[in-house]
Amino acid sequence: MKKNTRVNHPPAVDVPADNRSLVAPIYQSVKFTFDDTAETAKFLRGERPGFFYSRASNPTLRQLELLLAELQGREECLLVGSGVASIAACLLALCRQGDHVLAFVESYGPTRYLLERLLGKFGVTHTLLSIEDRAGIERVLGTRPTRLVIFESPTNPVTKIADIEHLTLHARKAGALTVLDNTFAGFHNHGRYPVDVFLHSLTKYASGHGDVLGGAIIAASALIEPMRRDVVTLGPSLDPHAAFLIQRGMRTYFLRYERQCASALEIARWLAAQPRIREVFYPGLESHPGHALARAQMSEFGTIVTFDLDGGFAAGDRFADALEYFSISASLGSTESLVMPPRLIGGQDLSADQRRTAKLSPGTVRLSIGLEDTEDLLEDLKQALRAAFA
Ligand SMILES: Cc1ncc(COP(=O)(O)O)c(C=O)c1O
Repeated sequence: MKKNTRVNHPPAVDVPADNRSLVAPIYQSVKFTFDDTAETAKFLRGERPGFFYSRASNPTLRQLELLLAELQGREECLLVGSGVASIAACLLALCRQGDHVLAFVESYGPTRYLLERLLGKFGVTHTLLSIEDRAGIERVLGTRPTRLVIFESPTNPVTKIADIEHLTLHARKAGALTVLDNTFAGFHNHGRYPVDVFLHSLTKYASGHGDVLGGAIIAASALIEPMRRDVVTLGPSLDPHAAFLIQRGMRTYFLRYERQCASALEIARWLAAQPRIREVFYPGLESHPGHALARAQMSEFGTIVTFDLDGGFAAGDRFADALEYFSISASLGSTESLVMPPRLIGGQDLSADQRRTAKLSPGTVRLSIGLEDTEDLLEDLKQALRAAFA
């Protein structure tokens, strides 16, 4: 073997079958090979296990898929490169021309964009209702053939709680699939409801450290397997190194989520007692209209605390600028706390009426609570409120 050949065929290191690494290695390889053509053909015919090309499957991704499917309580999981890729891929795989989708004014902005701009181009129509409009949901599902209902709970940013039992009951009756973007509530919530497909942005609580993007589609095998073929061909694959980081983040998922939720509840209670704050939206507060539903549906109330601040954009800017431990940034679920002042809160595509329904106002501030000490966060909020109204 000459030197150029050698560097491309380095010495193999075999690890004995009874000598495993405690942390699974990252299979940072696009290609996998078998010993001969016959075995390769057998694999491609689905007659033996293995891996061949990482856009379709990879052992590092597979371990994470198995873990997330189990936590969410469904048979199968399909990983993609981001949370929005999970939404786009799922909608593209499940809808065909002429289909109708039910979504909500409180839905995540890019979900509404995908329905409006991308699926709209291919002749898929949709209706936007309020997630609280039970009569409307029954009316639309009872009168209009609907392929699927896509929703969130809690919603972003004002944390409305969907009545999952009601939604799934009426969707089933109408023969519509239910797709729940479960990013805010997490893998350990909502699995006992007959939701057909769960979507997650792994960028948030799963990775937990704000350093990697990822998404997951979780459902029964009968739904995932045909979808897997479509999605593999669309190509929004998750990289093995990203999967490794997310898998590592999952080791502390429950510890982080529970601690961040406990901190969020304490902060929401404190905010609710402040005179310049008109309303606090946190499902853990007894005053929240969805409190009873959230208590029944979830084991905690999430890490997003939203509130309506007196004084509009200007006070919102002063408040966010004065905060020291909350960075002005989008996203949620990482170890550091974040703030989105009213000027930066989305929903600009909604009409004035829809914004009112969604409870978005020029005073809407969203906090994402991280892992800092709660007392420090409270002190910081206190001084920022003082600065906003000095
Ligand atoms: C509810 C929800 N779904 C999906 C996403 C998209 O996730 P990603 O940024 O990983 O594409 C987000 C991001 O903020 C989100 O809040």
